[in-house]
Amino acid sequence: MSEGKVVLDDAEYARLRLLLSRAAGLVFDDSRRDSMGYSLGERLRATGIASVGEYLEEVCAPGSAERQRLIDEVTIQETHFFRNPPQMRALRAHVLPELVRHASAHGRRLRIWSAGCSTGEEPYTIAMMIRELLPSTAGWDIKVIATDISENALDAARHATYGARAVQLASAAEVARFFVPLDGGRYEVRPEVRELVELRHHNLVQDAPPADALDLVLCRNVTIYFSRETTRALMGRLHTALRDGGYLFLGHSETLWQVSEDFRLVSLGTGDTAAYVYRRLDEPASERRAVLPDRRTLAEPVPPPERRLSARRAWKAVSPHVPKQAERTDVPSLKAVRDALAEGRYADAARLARLAGDADPLKPEVHYLLGLALVDQGLDLEALPPLRRAVYLDPEAGLAHFLLAGALARSGDRPAAAREYRAAAQTLSRTTDAAAPELGGRSARELAALCAQLERQLSAGSER
Ligand SMILES: C[S@@+](CC[C@H](N)C(=O)[O-])C[C@H]1O[C@@H](n2cnc3c(N)ncnc32)[C@H](O)[C@@H]1O
Repeated sequence: MSEGKVVLDDAEYARLRLLLSRAAGLVFDDSRRDSMGYSLGERLRATGIASVGEYLEEVCAPGSAERQRLIDEVTIQETHFFRNPPQMRALRAHVLPELVRHASAHGRRLRIWSAGCSTGEEPYTIAMMIRELLPSTAGWDIKVIATDISENALDAARHATYGARAVQLASAAEVARFFVPLDGGRYEVRPEVRELVELRHHNLVQDAPPADALDLVLCRNVTIYFSRETTRALMGRLHTALRDGGYLFLGHSETLWQVSEDFRLVSLGTGDTAAYVYRRLDEPASERRAVLPDRRTLAEPVPPPERRLSARRAWKAVSPHVPKQAERTDVPSLKAVRDALAEGRYADAARLARLAGDADPLKPEVHYLLGLALVDQGLDLEALPPLRRAVYLDPEAGLAHFLLAGALARSGDRPAAAREYRAAAQTLSRTTDAAAPELGGRSARELAALCAQLERQLSAGSER
């Protein structure tokens, strides 16, 4: 052991990985072996157990209380109030007003689940937004159910006092309205917010959802630690627990591509401020697949013909910024954007791509072309949001991964750049497109090899 870290041999690490995957769905690859060594060192020190072997016997025993302590130690609790501003804007401007309207016609019952709520910032944020809409909830049946597997995190959530860092995304008015300032620069969440939140211990991979007919589920930055299979099974349970038309919010790097076809992706807001969220679909996947044959079509808000009218209305209801058909005649085509790029009119190409993106925010290529136009002007930092949207909407978009990697590397984020070069190499090696005209006419295979090489260079550089 050095500086509290335990060196785990292959067999010990394998046993711990299996335990945590079965108990909590958590996946630990080789890159996390060191951090697991630190966690184990911490648990050995806290329990007074002398060796990893004895500790493993203890923690793997049926009904072991130490298992919960280990889960508390290895789970990542990073969170803050008003996290993910585009989603917060979408909640405030579209989703919560719509849910409150729906609830007022359905028994004034509103059920929201913050699944993987960590130390409470997420559910309290939702409760604050509800308080903005409904200062008094007398006569309403409103619950924000907040669950987590970590007892430590839930204890902190019950305590509901936070440091300045946790509230840095809250406006001064929100801090003044929803927190009591404490000594030492800390803030306590006000009782009228806390009373809307019900905190419970819950394991997302083992327990049934804590309620049904849910209006909204936030399961953000939780499935990034799960395998695809675990996530798929969880999404099935969330689908069952949501009511028709209910919303699902995931973290900005989490997507249901290749995981679930039971939700419709919708975009709320426009341009850089758009949020991508999911809604529960009410038709079975088998019916939908016949009409929406591939993932690009699935990502668009186009319902099957027999439902077109009503679902189209629903789409408009939640997307007030989508221009009406009559206004869309001036929407530039992707060809116009590409022509501007080919002629070196990069600022013009960016302007046209923005207009096209406002009209059709779920089309990955539009964000890719905007990113390309910005990169071509040397605006790497500005290019990051559209390129991130492009790879979010189409994780197989190799060229978008490639551009994003370059923009990240030039902006100094080498670990993220290495990850994107790896994704670019993988996706481009699966691409059959012969060439990439706007990237010097290289073939996809050549570009994939280059990306793999750049990834190795960046990873080697970060280890030094
Ligand atoms: C990074 S935090 C996310 C907090 C919040 N949702 C957000 O986006 O800010 C991830 C949380 O997921 C919880 N978690 C991990 N595995 C879980 C499981 N199997 N069941 C329930 N919660 C889990 C962790 O304890 C942790 O609090």
